[in-house]
Amino acid sequence: MDAVKWTANSISAADGADARIMSRVNVAAARCFHQSFPQYAETPLAALNALAGFYGVKNIFVKDESFRFGLNAFKVLGGSYAMARCLADFTGRPAESLTYDVITSPEFRKESGELTFFSATDGNHGRGVAWSARMLKQKAVILMPKGTQRSRFENIRKEGAEVTIEDLNYDGCVRKAAKKAKETPNGVLIQDTAWDGYEEIPSRIMQGYGTMAAEADEQFLEAAGAFPTHVFIQAGVGSLAAAVAGYFADKYGAAAPRVTVVEADQADCIYRSALANDGSIRTVGGAMHTMMAGLACGEPSTTAWRILKAYASAFASVPDAAAAVGMRVLGAPLPGDPRVISGESGAAPAGLLHLMMTEKYLEPLRRALDINKYSRILLFSTEGATDPENYRRVVWEGTDGYGD
Ligand SMILES: Cc1ncc(COP(=O)(O)O)c(C=O)c1O
Repeated sequence: MDAVKWTANSISAADGADARIMSRVNVAAARCFHQSFPQYAETPLAALNALAGFYGVKNIFVKDESFRFGLNAFKVLGGSYAMARCLADFTGRPAESLTYDVITSPEFRKESGELTFFSATDGNHGRGVAWSARMLKQKAVILMPKGTQRSRFENIRKEGAEVTIEDLNYDGCVRKAAKKAKETPNGVLIQDTAWDGYEEIPSRIMQGYGTMAAEADEQFLEAAGAFPTHVFIQAGVGSLAAAVAGYFADKYGAAAPRVTVVEADQADCIYRSALANDGSIRTVGGAMHTMMAGLACGEPSTTAWRILKAYASAFASVPDAAAAVGMRVLGAPLPGDPRVISGESGAAPAGLLHLMMTEKYLEPLRRALDINKYSRILLFSTEGATDPENYRRVVWEGTDGYGD
């Protein structure tokens, strides 16, 4: 297995202004919107007590997003909330008045007309946008990168969206979707990454992810009697990781858990940005061949990077084999622990944790994060088996990537 690379965050913390995007008020607004859906239910927080004992830490909890709205991934939380906020802006209605029942009513549809929501996706975000468009009676056009797995394409097509696989990588698809949205009357880009001049919608998306962070925070407090000391969170463009880090930073201030950002080593743009240590973004280009499809993004979100460089403690870059270990550890638990079905991108943090606790060469990371018998660890399994064939290849047949 290729080695895990990591770096502690040595960029000095900012003044904290950016965490305000994830303030409790902003997250509560997103959560109220999600709670208005008939499909809404909190996803479970799995307690892995036996695994915690095995590693010699106090707690390990895994937020299992495979149960989110029946869509097998957390992503719908972001797209749906950003779309609702667009509809509020478009109709001039106050955002808090737009519940699921209001948006889906024939009167509202008459008022709003049809918007076309464009998005680029490796799978989960586009599925969430397509599902939300169907639920909210709007149109979705989704672009997917070269090499997309058929099952992920079909899941989006089934939601009634117009969907294509492009001869481009993820970042190229983002640019094409942005162009198409601009050229289409009532076209809106719902993209889960920010760049200079495109920051409002990605911020709404992050606030939507706040629903998951707030649920996990409350569930953790109730189950462990204290909040987490450590969070391991995966990143593609970094919106998710920044949403989680920002939520905890805003809520707990200096006492916030130490956040470690976990990326695929083929797409480790945030790790490279941290390593460069000058506060600026670094990018990764090309095909980014990794089975962690959700993490195969080579250009960090500008908004996310501002939060992560201020609030993350460490950045790790992990090979496919680490995600495969995470899938197996969660899928074949120790006696007494519940099973968590976690896909390639979902299991990357569990894989890093396992290697960090069992491999000698990662002892310095353990020390840097001050992991000890009192540590209370929170992981997010952000997807279930979204590529079921590859899930079986990894978990049953022991492969470490796509078709190895
Ligand atoms: C399952 C899963 N986990 C994590 C991520 C990473 O989210 P972000 O791109 O906001 O960093 C994605 C992105 O698509 C994903 O699909």
